[in-house]
Amino acid sequence: MNFELTEEQLMIQQTARRFAAEELKPGVIARDDLQQFPVEQVKKLGELGFLGMMVSPEYGGSGMDTLSYVVAMEEFSKIDASAAVIVSVNNSLVCYGLEKYGTEAQKLKYLVPLASGKQIGAFCLSEPEAGSDASSQRTSAIDMGEYYLLNGVKNWITNGSSATTYIVLAQTDAEKGHHGINALIVEKGMPGFTVGAKENKMGMRASDTHSLHFTDVKVPKQNRIGEDGFGFTMAMKLLEGGRIGIAAQALGIAAGAFELALNYSKERRAFGKTLAELQAIQFKLADMETEIEAARLLCYKAAWLKDNGQPYGHASAMAKLFASQIAMRTTIEAVQIHGGYGCVKEYHVERLMRDAKVTQIYEGTSEIQRIVISRDILK
Ligand code: CAA
Repeated sequence: MNFELTEEQLMIQQTARRFAAEELKPGVIARDDLQQFPVEQVKKLGELGFLGMMVSPEYGGSGMDTLSYVVAMEEFSKIDASAAVIVSVNNSLVCYGLEKYGTEAQKLKYLVPLASGKQIGAFCLSEPEAGSDASSQRTSAIDMGEYYLLNGVKNWITNGSSATTYIVLAQTDAEKGHHGINALIVEKGMPGFTVGAKENKMGMRASDTHSLHFTDVKVPKQNRIGEDGFGFTMAMKLLEGGRIGIAAQALGIAAGAFELALNYSKERRAFGKTLAELQAIQFKLADMETEIEAARLLCYKAAWLKDNGQPYGHASAMAKLFASQIAMRTTIEAVQIHGGYGCVKEYHVERLMRDAKVTQIYEGTSEIQRIVISRDILK
């Protein structure tokens, strides 16, 4: 067992840390306030290879392992969790899905621009009435021979308006239940496809979350990913990897809040001492660090399993469940340590607390992770 990152992973960590400090930190409060997508920052992330981290260089990616991705996600999320979720969805849901299950033609047409950061992708599973109950898809993709006729509404879509390539899950044959669901690649600009309202969210406010509307969109047959009826299984498989990314994001939020609270506690004085000299604060810091380290190990383990070709769905669910809980707990304590200043935007911790809550909800709520874990234990 080796707990050390490789030289390459350490270099990625340094690069991500520097990028977060120099490029993400300036303006992070305003972007959150104004719900402003980090256009320039995402462009630079693409140029540095962070949007297709695990994709083979053959398809424009950086050819890195999942652990490197986790390490980078933690660094970005310490500073700007909104930017991090844009990175995560593009990497682990869209790029991974296309590389793993797409045809050569799909990879050349769609994966290359996504992995090289020239375009952004979105993954469209959730619907107004199909969130946690993801197999209850109402969006339909009727087989018309040469094409699928796509109709329906998707909700809560990350990168909803900034994406150009969308992986859309839809029901082709309702009688077959989840075996009748397909995953289709839909391009922005296809007639009948419109981007709907932007959600005014509590957290992750700089990432654009939209509803999407499909009215008689003709999606060419060659845009289906995988065999007929493979869509739901594919979505579940992609989410196993996606949850590693979100777990790492939650870890980063916790670690970022911890760093802020630690620094503040060393500077702020009360009762003739710094806060850090008070045992009430010392114990909080000790708990925070212990829990963050445990979350980090769960994230690393899930990434290691994926990198080593072993099943990782159970581990990724545990990592996401735990890291998102820790993100919530740590950020609440970080606000508490900051006192009144914790409620002020300029001190960053209140934003991290709002962002933390989202990690307990998207890519499978904490309750869904418990379903995945317990089914696995009991089967
Ligand atoms: N890998 C492969 N196949 C899987 C699988 C997995 N991890 N999990 C389930 N399946 C298969 C099952 O084997 C089964 O297939 P068969 O019938 O052939 O055996 C089929 O899928 C249905 O499985 P279940 O009976 O377990 O399905 P269910 O209806 O009980 O639901 C669930 C399972 C785990 C609750 C699932 O619906 C789920 O994960 N829900 C949460 C959805 C989610 O995470 N949404 C997030 C949206 S994406 C997002 O948030 C991205 C973003 O923008 C940030």
